[in-house]
Amino acid sequence: MDAAILTAGAVAIAAQVYLSPIPEVSSVKVLVTLTLIRRALFSPLSSFPGPRLYGLSTLFKINLYRSGEGGYALLDLHNKYNSDIIRIAPNELSVRDVEAIERLYKGKYPRGTPYDVAKVEGSESLNTARDYRIHTPWRRVWERAFTNSQLKEYTPRVEHHVSKLVDVIRKGEGQEVNVLKIMENFVFDIMADLSFAQDSGMQDGTRVNDYMEFLHKYMAAIVILGNLRPLLALMPYLPVSADVKAHRRRCQDMLAERVKLGKTRKDIFTHLLDPEIDPPAGKSTMFTPGELDSNANLMVIAGADTTSSTMTQLFRELALNPKILKKLQQEVDEHCASGGEISVEGTKSLAYSNAVINEALRLLNPLPSGIYAATPPAGLTFPVFGDREKETFIPGNVQVMIPHLAIMTDERYFPKGDEFIPERWSGKWDEGVLDRRAFIPFGYGAHSCVGKQLALNEMRMALASILKEWSIELGEKYDEKQWKDGFKDYHVVKIGDLWVKFAPRT
Ligand code: HEM
Repeated sequence: MDAAILTAGAVAIAAQVYLSPIPEVSSVKVLVTLTLIRRALFSPLSSFPGPRLYGLSTLFKINLYRSGEGGYALLDLHNKYNSDIIRIAPNELSVRDVEAIERLYKGKYPRGTPYDVAKVEGSESLNTARDYRIHTPWRRVWERAFTNSQLKEYTPRVEHHVSKLVDVIRKGEGQEVNVLKIMENFVFDIMADLSFAQDSGMQDGTRVNDYMEFLHKYMAAIVILGNLRPLLALMPYLPVSADVKAHRRRCQDMLAERVKLGKTRKDIFTHLLDPEIDPPAGKSTMFTPGELDSNANLMVIAGADTTSSTMTQLFRELALNPKILKKLQQEVDEHCASGGEISVEGTKSLAYSNAVINEALRLLNPLPSGIYAATPPAGLTFPVFGDREKETFIPGNVQVMIPHLAIMTDERYFPKGDEFIPERWSGKWDEGVLDRRAFIPFGYGAHSCVGKQLALNEMRMALASILKEWSIELGEKYDEKQWKDGFKDYHVVKIGDLWVKFAPRT
């Protein structure tokens, strides 16, 4: 079903409503007509540019996500209308002005309504909690799990899984291997170990990683349901699909296993399960069993999928850019020659590697559509980029997103924004970053990524460990069209198989 079919469907329903001889339908006719007229002509958002039909019904935006075009379509719309603000639904705007970032996401900013749907059977997670009386104390608990000293505790576990990753690549040396699966297994092993103290056995091959497949079906369903606002309140009570159920059941099973272990091992859930922590005001526990389930579900989505898709895309970029690959290898070689270690700590100082990872987070971000927010009831005002004399005003209670892809590829902030040029971050081409405020790969503010440092640790060490021993080239099975066709943005990207060869360095 594409936009044309949706339009045809809408026209058919409208025709039925308008031509029906049944008298009751006339009140529906009046209501529909008035709603459409109000949305088209009298909405406070009517003056913002954007496709007319999108202003009439959210279904058009939903269709972009159903077809997996998501953040890429938003970028096209900004370009097509040559506007920093476009109307993408009756009560929703997409904004790519860097000046809006701090204003929109500052303090306890209102979260967008779609988060409601990601609750598991009605229970909140850190990410879905729109009420800061809940989110703030929960966030403190989550942050305790990611302090520097906790990250140090996790370091040997991360290094253990990186060494397994190296073994996996050694086994497939010289043959074509699917990097997507390798990366999914790698990050899943880390996530399961650090969150649930479990050996998921993905890299050992003792278990098959079909979590990710379920997860993407889950995300594809969630993004559609999350945008069907009139149904949101009913969502926890509506039947869910078998895929959604299966995904939730798997997260619940992992959590149940973790609960049995109590405090015998330090991991992320050690903090969430701690009975000593004070619950938020008005609650008897910090997390109910349902809320723990919901947070476990979040952990699987946030902790695994984002990092694996970024890494996989980065490996493709390196296979396509031998010069960048060589520079990275040179840096790793020099680091080792001067006595540096390939460890979580040792790889932190690799300047070019950090630049390459920054560039991957900018251009190959796993959340191209950005974060759902809403304007405060009094509305949102921000200066217009490049003309601070002028201001933009967005009325109150409007759903707004700042698409990561559109803002992080904008030429005004990142010249040659759609090219992969790590030098913009390495001090060799400072003009490549004209406005660093537009670099928001991990989000911004109260809900920004709590796992950022862990993600960076994983990526830096995996990259250095692999490039020390191997070069990367695209395999014969790699097909550019297939890669592009397989690439979907369901608010979190889903990417296709990436066939490459890891060739031993000579
Ligand atoms: C490349 C890797 C990653 C990227 C680009 C990334 C990006 C993001 C972004 C943009 C958000 C904000 C989401 C929102 O406001 O709705 C977020 C939130 C979050 N991330 Fe990450 N993330 C990554 C890896 C991780 C890892 C490895 C973990 C945990 C181990 C993690 C845990 C979380 C959690 C728990 C939240 C929710 C925070 C809150 O709502 O307060 N992320 N991440």
